[in-house]
Amino acid sequence: QPADINVIAHIGISRHFCVVVMFQFSAKSSTFHPISYTDITKGYYDPAKHQGVRMSATNIVWHSTAVTKATRAALNRQKPCILWFTGFSGSGKSTIANALEQRLAELEQHTYLLDGDNIRHGLNKELGFNDADRIENIRRIGEVSKLFVDAGLIVISAFISPFREERQMVRELVEDGEFFEVFMGTPLETCEQRDPKGLYKKARAGEIKNFTGIDSTYEPPVNPEVTLDTSSMTVEECVNRVIDHLNNAGILPE
Ligand code: ADX
Repeated sequence: QPADINVIAHIGISRHFCVVVMFQFSAKSSTFHPISYTDITKGYYDPAKHQGVRMSATNIVWHSTAVTKATRAALNRQKPCILWFTGFSGSGKSTIANALEQRLAELEQHTYLLDGDNIRHGLNKELGFNDADRIENIRRIGEVSKLFVDAGLIVISAFISPFREERQMVRELVEDGEFFEVFMGTPLETCEQRDPKGLYKKARAGEIKNFTGIDSTYEPPVNPEVTLDTSSMTVEECVNRVIDHLNNAGILPE
């Protein structure tokens, strides 16, 4: 590519791919928009490991819309963001996410709750629980969450999301200050004792393979915005902790 001061490159590197995205400055909209996308790992790419990340379409151009995220957020009178719950099955993600959504509704905030089991009934119904499928699960949910943020909503996502790298990838999909990682630090022993769906018992008996915490890895966050533990905190305390954080971060109206 000839040097052009109006063109910048963004290089994305992960376990499975390395891509270069070129952006061109548009004086009209005063923004950079993507003009090309190249997967420079093509030769080394293992599609069996990771089917979703590669962009197959070429000659496609991003269209900027006249109504922007800022307009939609202003109409909703709120600051959109993602509250990303991560933790073991049975750690309380869905329970707290539900109670939090109720509290936000009382505060007249527009929200949308994305939940692991529900999304796996529809959008991600063909995905299982090996590492590659979990990565693809989170990649898609991340993109959906980003769209909902763009729609001006507060998104609550509740998925085990066991790998740091994919959670970081979602964080980087949105603007600084729009992603809050909520770590459910409920100990594995408590989750296993609760076993609300009887899945730990099946995993211990070898009837379910790749079960998180038993024979599949969970990488806890290093620096989550909020840490909760439903073995020692009530639902109300957990919700209050998240709401306090959102207040301190200036997300909620005074
Ligand atoms: S993730 O790892 O890809 O983020 P996700 O949150 O979508 O997982 O789905 C987890 C839910 O699927 C659990 O709450 C549990 O009910 C169910 N499940 C079924 N099999 C497994 C498994 N092998 N490991 C973890 N959860 C499983």
